[in-house]
Amino acid sequence: MNKINLAFIGCGAICTQIIQYLNENLPNKFDIKIIIDNNINRTKKKCENWNIKPVISDQFADYLVQNDIDLVIESASVNSVKNYAIEILSKSDLLIASVGALSDEKFYSKLLSQSVEYNNKLIIPHGAIGGLDAIGAVKNSISFIKITTTKSPESLIGSEGFKKYENHKFENKKLIFKGSAKEAISLFPKNLNVAVTLSLYGVGTQDTNVELIVDPDIKTNKHTIYLEGDFGTMNFDFSLNQSLTNPKTSALAALSIIKSLEDYK
Ligand SMILES: NC(=O)c1ccc[n+]([C@@H]2O[C@H](COP(=O)([O-])OP(=O)(O)OC[C@H]3O[C@@H](n4cnc5c(N)ncnc54)[C@H](O)[C@@H]3O)[C@@H](O)[C@H]2O)c1
Repeated sequence: MNKINLAFIGCGAICTQIIQYLNENLPNKFDIKIIIDNNINRTKKKCENWNIKPVISDQFADYLVQNDIDLVIESASVNSVKNYAIEILSKSDLLIASVGALSDEKFYSKLLSQSVEYNNKLIIPHGAIGGLDAIGAVKNSISFIKITTTKSPESLIGSEGFKKYENHKFENKKLIFKGSAKEAISLFPKNLNVAVTLSLYGVGTQDTNVELIVDPDIKTNKHTIYLEGDFGTMNFDFSLNQSLTNPKTSALAALSIIKSLEDYK
């Protein structure tokens, strides 16, 4: 059987966890052909350690076509999705980790129509939450839905919505954001992808409520989802270990992509 040709955009925490898994567990299923990352030197070093030889570049350009890529895995940033996703879907399947980019409804529907027009799959993994099958099943009768995320102050550094707290000494838990998923992802684009994933499976970004709590003592990333409607109520609780190299990211995010890869084709 021919191997499936993969390209990655972004070789940070998520990509690293995935490639280590593929190397150890699925070496005969996938061929990693291309890695696009702004940081070429760091990516080269990683690939040497993994003993793989993809094309490493900071340019997307024609590599996809030249290398006959079947699936591109985006694990970089909201901007990279905005820059590349439409073009990618005209050439190959695409899996998106930076789901925050899909909070722009026009952009998301353009991606869906591109996927239909070119008969290429758009894959959105469940990421750092779950229960989305049950939430999707009741989405037409949800009267209220909220996700409460609790993170450490360190994991929020760099986000627009955290700027005013960067020199603040947190003694106790503090609610620092309350609003819609749409507002949440614009203020915390690297921290609240989960709110957008929940919105896509449920009632959309405007009607999905989000609270973000800072906890100076927390060692995990916590997400609590509550919803109610004609069906009754649902509660989901996740307390997730952080990725080894990026405290913003839960290890479950990469595991959700690995599961999609195990099921792929
Ligand atoms: N869906 C979810 O539940 C979920 C959970 C966690 C993280 N994420 C998102 O997944 C993405 C990757 O997460 P991570 O923890 O691996 O991040 P990371 O910061 O560890 O790695 C990102 C890598 O992408 C590179 N990069 C960024 N923008 C780029 C661009 N435009 N072109 C080329 N390279 C680029 C960076 O140099 C870096 O090496 C982030 O956007 C993050 O917010 C989603």
